[in-house]
Amino acid sequence: MSADPTPECCCQLDRRGFLLLAASAAVAAGCESVNTGGTGTPHIVDAGPASAYAKDGVYSQYRSLGFFVIRRGSQLTALSSICTHRQCKLDAEPDRTFYCPCHGSTFDPAGKVTEGPAKRDLPTFATATNASGHLLVTVIG
Ligand code: FES
Repeated sequence: MSADPTPECCCQLDRRGFLLLAASAAVAAGCESVNTGGTGTPHIVDAGPASAYAKDGVYSQYRSLGFFVIRRGSQLTALSSICTHRQCKLDAEPDRTFYCPCHGSTFDPAGKVTEGPAKRDLPTFATATNASGHLLVTVIG
């Protein structure tokens, strides 16, 4: 009996296996991508009482649904939380800018690209307050 000097490769991957591994690595690296369905169909999200956004700042609780709520003085707006490069979820930074953990794009507090690879600014979404005082955000994506 002779030992085979060439160890078998234990990590051969087919295309599917490679894609699963790459997706797992991206998630492990904190790079969450969002599948918005790509329909471009607007849908309305009830973001709760508008009074919950009384203080100036960026509110991230609807980040996973595709937007940040931003209070600046008397203005209450909604800005996309999805990077315009390859649709990763953005992180809101303490200085009210936005950072993409996938490839490093940055956006200023108004959603304008300050560093690529993203080339397009973040879209803002229409907001309204209903009769119950709830903030309604029209998300497109
Ligand atoms: S997905 Fe945001 S920089 Fe690439």
